[in-house]
Amino acid sequence: MTIEFSRELNPHPLPEDQRARLLADPGFGRVFTDHMVTITWTAERGWHDARLRPYQPLVLDPATAVFHYGQAIFEGFKAYAQPDGSIKTFRPEANAARMQKSAERMALPPLPTADFLAACDLLISTDRAWVPRDGEKTLYVRPFMMATEVFLGVRPANHVTFAVIASPAASYFSGGLHPVSIWLSQEYTRAAPGGTGAAKCSGNYAASLIAQRQAAEHGCEQVVFLDAVERRWVEELGGMNIYFVFDDGTLVTPPTSGTILEGVTRDAILTLATEHGHRVDVRPIDIDEWRSGVASGRITEVFACGTAAVVTPIGRLVWDGGQLSIGDGTTGKVAQELRDALLAIQHGHVPDTHGWMHTVC
Ligand code: COI
Repeated sequence: MTIEFSRELNPHPLPEDQRARLLADPGFGRVFTDHMVTITWTAERGWHDARLRPYQPLVLDPATAVFHYGQAIFEGFKAYAQPDGSIKTFRPEANAARMQKSAERMALPPLPTADFLAACDLLISTDRAWVPRDGEKTLYVRPFMMATEVFLGVRPANHVTFAVIASPAASYFSGGLHPVSIWLSQEYTRAAPGGTGAAKCSGNYAASLIAQRQAAEHGCEQVVFLDAVERRWVEELGGMNIYFVFDDGTLVTPPTSGTILEGVTRDAILTLATEHGHRVDVRPIDIDEWRSGVASGRITEVFACGTAAVVTPIGRLVWDGGQLSIGDGTTGKVAQELRDALLAIQHGHVPDTHGWMHTVC
């Protein structure tokens, strides 16, 4: 049994012509649908007061704990319009499970998978007119959870809010699919053993922003972090996982082992690459192997992957004192092959033999 949702429809949904204008060029994370879902948790009552309601500001007391101690987590997955007119999401149960793990790490209450799915499905089906129907555009779904107890003591909150909003989205990187340049952060790390690296907590992203700003100052679109102990093992980018393609067709991606987010796209690529005849090694890869591998031609492609980024080629690595180019300025063959395979499943152009797609409506 899932939680019961009360439903208050938006009396002023955006008129169709205005929605169409926004859907024509939504960018990423700028446009939001007509509704949202919230569910409240308290230590006394557990999860309750589940509501679909018009998209609106959350009004919070200045002493709300999340503002002070950052007890907050989030997820991201996408809804895809299918050729038969239905709407499906990609592996949302994996996001539900990861949110439960993040919640555990951040001393937040886990939301049962059935309630997570019911909340997201209700929002998507209510706002189904916002799911783009053209090209590679999608509806990006953003569930999040935060400490909403009004209290300045430092302890796990006794009042928590889970919410879901949705945002029609085109490419995460402006300018569409192209090889991106990456700044190697040698000053800052993202996660330490025993820390929160494997949790999708807001603080991880906050901690990456100064390095992301340095990336921009060096003309780069993203930042890559090394491990916090030896400062040599490649971990992940500011908001996506990383894969290396070797000249014998082998793919290498670092093990998640506590400091790296267990990406759902990363996991799907492990499966798809194997099915496409690639060997996949999940092993640590150090920054010198990256540099020397590209120089010697052993590493032929590097790509980032994530829900927002899908599969995005990395064309340049820049660090303090040097840089190297990877590939010829176009998307590499393997990255393209895996990207196409993934998108074909998600957009319903090939059968979903893995049981990855979840029918919403
Ligand atoms: C995602 O790919 O969904 C992410 O969470 C990355 C970023 C937008 C924060």
